Amino acid sequence: MLALAASSHPVIYWYLTRATGIVALCLLTCAVVLGVTNVSRFASERWPRFVIDGVHRRVALLSVVFLAIHVTTTIMDGYVPVTLFDVLVPFHSPYRTFWVGLGTIACDLLLALVITSLLRVRLGYNAWRSVHWLAYACWPVAVLHGAGTGTDFRQLWMFAIDAACVLAVIGAVGVRLSLGGVGGSAGAWR
Ligand code: HEM
Repeated sequence: MLALAASSHPVIYWYLTRATGIVALCLLTCAVVLGVTNVSRFASERWPRFVIDGVHRRVALLSVVFLAIHVTTTIMDGYVPVTLFDVLVPFHSPYRTFWVGLGTIACDLLLALVITSLLRVRLGYNAWRSVHWLAYACWPVAVLHGAGTGTDFRQLWMFAIDAACVLAVIGAVGVRLSLGGVGGSAGAWR
């Protein structure tokens, strides 16, 4: 269906790349905010911990789905020379090498996060959690990637979305620190 629509309007891939990049960033921001604030601490009878944890996981997974569409449409678009290799190996893309390379790093970190989460039982909690903290690094890298390479960053609405994402994460870190620092309880990004 997507391929059919795109064959008559090839430019649709480029719009999809931009739109899915923005949605992926917003979802990633929500997942980071939920993880950093460790909202499971605020579980109540109405919002039990497993529901809050479930929302966090699903939002994170949804961001991976949108990222997958983002990179697929980038490759399929053909207007910019980005290949599957460039999606996995940083700073190889001939198109905006540095900024797209940052997107690749964010993508690799997210992949590491997904794989270690799937292998969580085998890896053990401590190893899994270390990778999870590292995965938070993917958020600022993704923000820089979007701002550096995005067509829409010069638009006020896109700038507002980026600013809202940055303020949300800064606020979440503030809440986390005021609740007892990063070493608080063991609920980060779960
Ligand atoms: C977590 C990972 C990533 C996130 C959250 C993300 C998000 C974004 C965002 C927000 C934009 C700006 C869209 C706009 O201004 O309209 C963008 C642009 C772009 N991204 Fe990503 N991206 C990620 C990874 C990647 C990867 C791995 C590639 C391919 C190697 C890639 C290729 C591109 C390209 C080519 C653009 C430019 C679109 C344009 O010029 O408007 N991204 N991305």
